[in-house]
Amino acid sequence: MSKPNSLVIVIFGASGDLTRRKLMPSLYLLHKNKRLPPHLAILGVSRTAYKDEEYREHIREELSHFVKPEEVDEAQIRSFIDLLYYFPMDPANADAYPSLQSRLLSLDALIGNQENYLYYLATPPSLYGVIPQHLKQVGLNLDKGVEKKKRIIVEKPFGYDLESAIELNKIYKDAFREDQIFRIDHFLGKETVQNILALRFANSIFEPIWNRNYVDYVEVTAVENMGIEQRGGFFDGVGTLRDMVQNHLIQLVALTAMEPPMAFNADSFRDEVAKVYQSLTPLTEEDMNEHIIRGQYTASETRKGYREEKNVDPLSRTESYVAMKIGISNWRWSGVPFYIRTGKQMPTKVSEIVVHFKPTPYRLFNSPEQKSPMANQLIIRLQPNEGIVLKFEMKVPGSGFNVERVSMDFSYSSLGELPTEDAYARLIEDCIQGDPTLFTRSDAVESSWQFFTPVLTFWKEHPEIPVYGYPAGTWGPRESEAMMHEHGADWTNPCKNLTNTDLYCEL
Ligand SMILES: NC(=O)c1ccc[n+]([C@@H]2O[C@H](COP(=O)([O-])OP(=O)(O)OC[C@H]3O[C@@H](n4cnc5c(N)ncnc54)[C@H](OP(=O)(O)O)[C@@H]3O)[C@@H](O)[C@H]2O)c1
Repeated sequence: MSKPNSLVIVIFGASGDLTRRKLMPSLYLLHKNKRLPPHLAILGVSRTAYKDEEYREHIREELSHFVKPEEVDEAQIRSFIDLLYYFPMDPANADAYPSLQSRLLSLDALIGNQENYLYYLATPPSLYGVIPQHLKQVGLNLDKGVEKKKRIIVEKPFGYDLESAIELNKIYKDAFREDQIFRIDHFLGKETVQNILALRFANSIFEPIWNRNYVDYVEVTAVENMGIEQRGGFFDGVGTLRDMVQNHLIQLVALTAMEPPMAFNADSFRDEVAKVYQSLTPLTEEDMNEHIIRGQYTASETRKGYREEKNVDPLSRTESYVAMKIGISNWRWSGVPFYIRTGKQMPTKVSEIVVHFKPTPYRLFNSPEQKSPMANQLIIRLQPNEGIVLKFEMKVPGSGFNVERVSMDFSYSSLGELPTEDAYARLIEDCIQGDPTLFTRSDAVESSWQFFTPVLTFWKEHPEIPVYGYPAGTWGPRESEAMMHEHGADWTNPCKNLTNTDLYCEL
């Protein structure tokens, strides 16, 4: 896999939030670090009527907000901006595609490209099925040789449920081959997420204990301390299960639970991920009643409630928090619960996986604080303070035989400076080079939806299932605490628990 000599990147949704906050800053970093093809043009496409110069001005302004100050290099920004072009069109309108094709051919002539195109779909999801069909109608889907490739990156969410995901996969397969399709989940572009693989498969000491014989339970947490910001219109129709759990959280479960791939290549790696999804224990109605907690943040002293956010229905029952207990029915994990949770307006922003090992068979040492046998924990911290923490017990110096929990910390940054390029930059570069390893394959998308769609159906058919309120800035509904208590445990909250029981209610 190598970088092509020339390329036109076509961004559909070029006037939108994702483009200005993530895609352009990432492309700028790739440009600055000389990771892009030498002959390149970036064509923005959306309905807003910019001229080339106006669009360049717009992106220049946005870069000043979203590129870190230490990455700003005025000469590089100028040369990056010169790569930008704009084509105003409605991507839903089939009649506009012949003109798009002409514009692409004229850009080809300008930069010395030969129909080598990468399409990035950053539009509302309702257009994800429309654009590939229109591209196909004018032949903009066809690879025509080594340097005349067509690749397409599709943003999440890929589908709305199982049925729509199957339908979308059909549309894509009709227009493109699977190796041309890159379903992006930017979690997988993060260095620290990839580091889970290094931890598990570049070390021999973990493998013998990484199973139901030694692991008691696993927690996966990905929470943030912000609300839905300006995304109310989008989020209120989607909710956290679709936005976070069905893709990001289940990816983290897969990386933690998967078998070692035969080789680190796209097929082997994605085969093992798909096998985890296929092994998820189907949820019964009882599981959905008792082991899935959905919540919605309510106003606190300093923060708005979800229902007061812009473009949110004041009676909305959309969940901004989900905690659930899931199982994996296979030889390695049978009987080991995976507790996963994600939410907005939590006390902090953190993503981490905590592997709780089984306790010692009985308590040999007398430690006054230690009520139960001792259990080791391995914490894989994905953000912030990326690293690994191993928790174990040691004797407290002095008389008697008291033991105390200690931590062995490894900070990822001690290996060297973390790359400044972000997950999007990494994944866009992989796509340019034709490497789909870190993108989601069609079978994995469908297996994941197969597991989660019954939950959506159950919630729809049972409006009496509660949505629990939690005050913004706390760790979520107390019912999710109760779910953990059933296991005789508490969630591992990385900072002090801020819950205030008086503020809880059922919505
Ligand atoms: N924003 C994020 O951080 C983020 C993160 C992960 C995934 N995503 C996904 O990326 C996609 C884009 O998100 P976004 O936040 O950038 O959305 P957005 O700000 O609403 O932007 C949507 C873009 O699509 C264009 N568009 C074309 N046809 C449209 C139509 N019929 N209706 C509305 N807009 C149309 C809009 O421009 P015109 O109005 O000029 O046509 C605009 O450029 C979404 O699917 C989202 O799920 C976003």
